[in-house]
Order: sequence, then C-alpha cells, then structure tokens
Amino acid sequence: MSVAQKTSYKKITTHVLQEMKLKGEKIAMLTAYDFSMARIIDNAGIDVILVGDSAANVMAGYETTLPITLNEMIYHATSVVRGVQRALVVVDMPFGTYQGNSKEALSSAIRIMKESGADAVKMEGGAEILESINRILCAGIPVMGHLGLTPQSIHKFGTYVVRAQQEEEAQKLIEDAQLLEKAGCFSIVLEKIPAKLGGDVASKIRIPVIGIGAGSKVDGQVLVLHDMLGITQEFSPRFLRRYHNLFEEIKGSVQNYITDIKRLDFPNDREQY
Ligand code: KIV
Repeated sequence: MSVAQKTSYKKITTHVLQEMKLKGEKIAMLTAYDFSMARIIDNAGIDVILVGDSAANVMAGYETTLPITLNEMIYHATSVVRGVQRALVVVDMPFGTYQGNSKEALSSAIRIMKESGADAVKMEGGAEILESINRILCAGIPVMGHLGLTPQSIHKFGTYVVRAQQEEEAQKLIEDAQLLEKAGCFSIVLEKIPAKLGGDVASKIRIPVIGIGAGSKVDGQVLVLHDMLGITQEFSPRFLRRYHNLFEEIKGSVQNYITDIKRLDFPNDREQY
C-alpha cells in the first residue's frame, strides 16, 4: 500500500492497528512524555504514542530506565493523554511494578489506566512474566509486549548489543512472541534484533509487530522522540534516523535571547506596556 493509499482513521484503537497489519499499512509510533510534545505529534498524525520508561533517560537524566517510578510514569502519561485526540496511548510499566507478583502487576496496571486515562500498557519480557500479563489482560487492559533488547534487564545482559543473533536466543524470542500473541497481547515491540528475525516474527504472528532496530519487514516502527529530533546527541545506534538537530537549534535560540538581553535589545518598545 502506497502512502497515498493510506487509510485515514479518526481514532486509533487496538482493533485499528490489527486492521492496519491486515491491510499492510505500516504503523508509525513515537514516544512522548509531556502535553506539548504529545499534542504536536498527535497533530502530525502519529498512530501510537508510547509514554516510554525512556523518560528516565531523556526527561530525568538517568543512565538506565530502572529508577523511574510508577507515580512518575503516571504523571508523564496523564500529561500526554491531555494532549492527544487521535493516537493510541500506551504506557510503559516501570521496572519493579510487574515482574515479581502478578497481583501487584495488576494493581500497577489499574493505577496507570485509572489515573492517566491511557489506552494500554507495555511490559518487557516473555514467558517469565506471563502470569502478570494474563492477570492484566483478564482485567480488560490491553497489553503490548516488548522482546529482544529489553532495557529494564540491562544489568542481566550487561550490554546494549544486538540481541538474538544466536539460534537459541532467536528461537526463544519466536516462542515468546507466539506466547504473547496466544495470551492476547494486541501488539509486540521488538528491539535491536537482526532484520531477518524481525520479519520472521512479523510473518509468524497475526498481531502487529513494531520494530526499533528490527529491520523493515515488521509492521511498524518506533523511535524515541528526543533521539529522532536530535535533542539527545550522544546516542547514535545504527537504527536511529535523525530528522532534526534540535539541540543546536534550541541552543542557538537561547544564545540569541541572551545576546538580545545583554545588549538591551529585548524587550523593545513594542514588547512592553
Ligand atoms: O521506553 C521506550 O522508549 C521504549 C521504546 C524504545 C520502544 O520502550
């Protein structure tokens, strides 16, 4: 399907995403963490907005995604939801709120849905967290899975290199994807895996597969907004396409503002009462 033939949906739901996969229409997803950015990208026509726990990195400045709390994620999600009319809003369940105990997982997911008004939650992992996924799904909360590179497990893996390059790990990933589909997840994110494996998973399961560094044969793509806009500078994986250099743009504007104040040019006569 060409871009010109693209169907225009008024409101994106999990069912619409399924329909898009069936029609071969690629799904565009980005992260957002606040009202203003969410409003811009929703207005631009993004299909899915992920309130990612990457907020820990790009909003709070932590090295990993582990420190962000449930309250902080709910704060970001609530701000995003206020800015969105069309996109499906998915919220990352933060580290430590779903892995150990499925009842705690359910109450974390319920808090996210009730307090933020988001549409779905996302959880990292496969078979290991199946009990939590099942319990959340039983409560009628849509779940997006996340396999491959799972940043909440960085201390287990010790590195951010491409995952599932060996047969055994690739096989486990395929089985986990099938398990998540069978459980009732509406979609799966695949992060930083070989392109061929991404395509294989997308063709083996019926739910949409959204890739970040998972090649072009998956059903959609996701990037971290701050990376694709060039607000972050130090992070340059091969899968990242930068559409802007906002770091330099913002810095230049701020430098002009400082200069204008120092040389008594701002405010001028028309800019005061
Ligand atoms: O937290 C996040 O931004 C994510 C994306 C990288 C998929 O999980």
